[in-house]
Amino acid sequence: SDIEKGTYPHYMLKEIDEQPFVIRNIITKYKNENDTIKLDENIRQAVLDSDRVYIIAAGTSYHAGLVGKQLIEKIANKPVETHIASEFLYNMPLLSEKPLFIFISQSGETADSRGVLVEIKKLGHKSLTITNVPGSTLSREADYTLHTYAGPEIAVASTKAYTAQMAVLAILAVDTARAAGIQMDFDPLQELAIVANAMETLADRKEELEQIARDYMSVTRNCFFIGRAMDYHVCLEGALKLKEISYIQAEGFAGGELKHGTIALIEEGTPVIGLATQEHVNLSIRGNIKEVVARGAYPCVISMEGMEEEEDTLVIPHVHEYLTPLVSVLPLQIISYYAALHRGCDVDKPRNLAKSVTVE
Ligand code: G6P
Repeated sequence: SDIEKGTYPHYMLKEIDEQPFVIRNIITKYKNENDTIKLDENIRQAVLDSDRVYIIAAGTSYHAGLVGKQLIEKIANKPVETHIASEFLYNMPLLSEKPLFIFISQSGETADSRGVLVEIKKLGHKSLTITNVPGSTLSREADYTLHTYAGPEIAVASTKAYTAQMAVLAILAVDTARAAGIQMDFDPLQELAIVANAMETLADRKEELEQIARDYMSVTRNCFFIGRAMDYHVCLEGALKLKEISYIQAEGFAGGELKHGTIALIEEGTPVIGLATQEHVNLSIRGNIKEVVARGAYPCVISMEGMEEEEDTLVIPHVHEYLTPLVSVLPLQIISYYAALHRGCDVDKPRNLAKSVTVE
């Protein structure tokens, strides 16, 4: 297994670095010779025929599902609900007349997700699994499968599977929109190529990100991530990464919701990571950052080219607004990695966690 790691000290770092290649691989796998999207006709039809999509997932895959909802609703104009797998059966929403269930699962083996699949099949509903393991249980038991082509993910903390899932969801959203006759100038295959380059740029800035981890994470017991719109969903994932491997208590919050409670936790020196990659909320998230700074927070602002301010800690390269999560998560993954490393944690095998949870 040391051989598979090559020169990398940990699988997680290797898998973070693989992300540009994974995205380019996805572009190749989902492209026809004439540069159009290659996707199973039956899957296209299943999404078109449905009146509502229910995304079911756990952990990091759930976070990809939150972004997937935004993409499918905004691009394909189809209503989507994203649900935590373990809650779905105990708290089932009213289903629409023609639901399509999309299961997102790196391993394809998560018992909580499979439990939902078994039940919705009894109800006669159609299902699609988006997974990194095509022969997996969720893949075999669902009607259709879309492969994320990320290659084996060994580190318990998911990185490349998450960005791959969102890339496939973007492609699926555009494919559905085009089939429905919706006009748009967003070409996901072209835009994903720009994303891959942006990822590479960030992966090359590890020293800088390691320094951020030193500055912000060396002694703290907690850390907050704030963002609005899609940045909020990336904040949830950034906080999960940090919790999983560094054991720092971390939470992601919607920028505007802070004042309704969480801001009570801000003390002198509390690290707050703010994401600012969404043009339409740039002003309001900047306001939220000022609010926490006024209470003593130690801010680390990660913005995107075109909306940066002088005091920002890190500026990520510009990518299409639909795809910013694929890029803004990279610095969060890398900061978490170094935070865990410097705190002496077992990065690839964090305590109490399993790579895939096959019990309810
Ligand atoms: C476990 C892992 C998480 C993962 C989740 C869902 O809890 O520790 O990293 O996100 O399962 O796994 P899946 O394979 O269904 O994506």
